[in-house]
Amino acid sequence: MAGRIPREFIDQLLARVDIVELIDGRVKLKKAGRNYHACCPFHNEKTPSFTVAQDKQFYHCFGCGAHGNAIDFVMEYDRLEFPDAVEELSSQAGLEVVREQSTYRSGSGGNAPRSAPPSNSAKFTDHYSLMQWAANFFQQALQQHPEKQRVIEYIQGRGLDSDTVTKFGIGFAPPGWDNLLKQQRGNFQGEKLLTDCGMVIEKEGGKRYDRFRDRLMFPIHDRRGRVVGFGGRVMGDDTPKYLNSPETPIFHKGHELYGLYEVRQASRTPERVLVVEGYMDVVALAQHGIDYAVASLGTATTSDHVQALVRTAKSEVVCCYDGDRAGREAAWRAVETALPLLRSGTALKFMFLPDGEDPDSLVRQEGKDAFEVRIGQATSLSDYLFSHVMKQADMSNDEGKAHMAKLVTDLINKINDDSLRQVFGQRLARELAWDEHKLNRFLKQETKPAQQSLKKAAQGRGTPLRHAIALLLHQPQLGFELPPQTALQHLNLNGVSLLREMLELCRQQPLTTAQLLERFRERPEQGILRKLMGWQFAVEENLNKEFTDCLSWLNQRFLEQMSETLNQKARDGSITPDEIRQLQWLNIRLASLRQSAKASGS
Ligand code: GTP
Ligand code: MN
Repeated sequence: MAGRIPREFIDQLLARVDIVELIDGRVKLKKAGRNYHACCPFHNEKTPSFTVAQDKQFYHCFGCGAHGNAIDFVMEYDRLEFPDAVEELSSQAGLEVVREQSTYRSGSGGNAPRSAPPSNSAKFTDHYSLMQWAANFFQQALQQHPEKQRVIEYIQGRGLDSDTVTKFGIGFAPPGWDNLLKQQRGNFQGEKLLTDCGMVIEKEGGKRYDRFRDRLMFPIHDRRGRVVGFGGRVMGDDTPKYLNSPETPIFHKGHELYGLYEVRQASRTPERVLVVEGYMDVVALAQHGIDYAVASLGTATTSDHVQALVRTAKSEVVCCYDGDRAGREAAWRAVETALPLLRSGTALKFMFLPDGEDPDSLVRQEGKDAFEVRIGQATSLSDYLFSHVMKQADMSNDEGKAHMAKLVTDLINKINDDSLRQVFGQRLARELAWDEHKLNRFLKQETKPAQQSLKKAAQGRGTPLRHAIALLLHQPQLGFELPPQTALQHLNLNGVSLLREMLELCRQQPLTTAQLLERFRERPEQGILRKLMGWQFAVEENLNKEFTDCLSWLNQRFLEQMSETLNQKARDGSITPDEIRQLQWLNIRLASLRQSAKASGS
């Protein structure tokens, strides 16, 4: 069983591989200034907006937003999962992948749990191993708990066979307030991880109890097959019908798709991925041979979801909704989210089910073939988009047509893929029966999205804290051997812990942007960091001054916070003589800082 790939190895790999050489082997790069350019391999374009920075070991497309380090490139270009991308790069670089002893089951080799049976002496190194333990615990309860018969009857009543139950790792959280908790009593680390992972709820006053009680449990796997969360269904009529894991350090609803890991186990590059609404839909479809369905976890489709779907499906992503109003609204929201991320290679389609039915009920009634006929009849994005918009406009006169053209153009302008945008433009002309000249007044120039996002990237630097994080990300050497920033340890500011962590990483060794960013893969901070990578700095040299300015600002914020605290104490009379002296010193220091800030005009 393959274990985790250690951090040091990834660092070494990223130091060994040159991203310019790697990408140039697949997409011809042209040198332009300090960077390299090409037409983006991830969307269709005629003017290059794909940039590779050798110093950062990072690529970024200003057209479609694709970006990342060498590992991301291989994942995206070769459609590989993380461990496979690392394998691939390593073999190119002549390195043998090093693996740690496994603490959780690896991405390959089936879905059945393999770890040892749960025991209260289990030691957990991290969130993942705890969640795997919990999954095993629930699966065992399904085999052994005195009330298992009732659960098995429910499962059978819903038409699931035991292979499917095993494949999806479905289990049973028995009734009771402390089934998980009592296994970990006295094990400080275990109790803390249970709480951190949302498996145990901690009330004010320290009272704790299991979140999932008397429920059928669906483990949610991340893309590497690790259990990161659960959905739990009641087996009666209680509410809520489903209970999901809350957001935790390893579980983000907006990122995960239920069943995606299982789909990829069935085929690494399925032709089609079907997006449905429920856990039971995914499971029932799989049992009937439709092993390419995923569900979002009771949330609207996010861009992360769309990206994962487009990356997985070779030719089409079909989104399946209830035929009711809520279904139609959800579908339209998905359209708006998906437009910027679409590429001409992968089609997006929509299907709506008859009232009162869902994929689970339909596939059980009519079987695989009939259900696949339905999927085959799904509406294309363009049909769906035009019919949706044309319902809102009176197409019998020019005014109504202009209104419709405006609505459609606003939508089309969200598309980054040039050829896809053209296809929509042509369709618009057809629907309006307008000539090109008339239409062009509405359509933007082909290169505009690239320019727009460049402009956006150059504007709006946000707070000095964000700025500091962005600067450090672009030039990690700014932090190398910097003395520890004590003010940051105590500063109370949203997001400051991220800067602290990054500084700590950069201080100790020279890192490239690629290596620094790699530390945050699959961490909640990854999103914001990747966004900040899109920032453009007018000048890339001598960012030192900007960086120290940001740190001084943060330092000043810290002094201000201290002074506020002490002033509060002075007001309520609890201030000590020492603190009075401290406050005087703070006030002098702050006055002089403000003076010099004024003088330097910042
Ligand atoms: P079954 O009744 O078991 O067939 O459920 P389903 O899978 O058909 O679910 P349904 O269509 O009712 O809901 C779709 C999805 O929405 C579920 O899979 C859940 O992710 C989510 N969901 C449904 N009900 C609840 C609820 O009460 N609370 C929460 N948090 N999510 C829910
Ligand atoms: Mn259902």
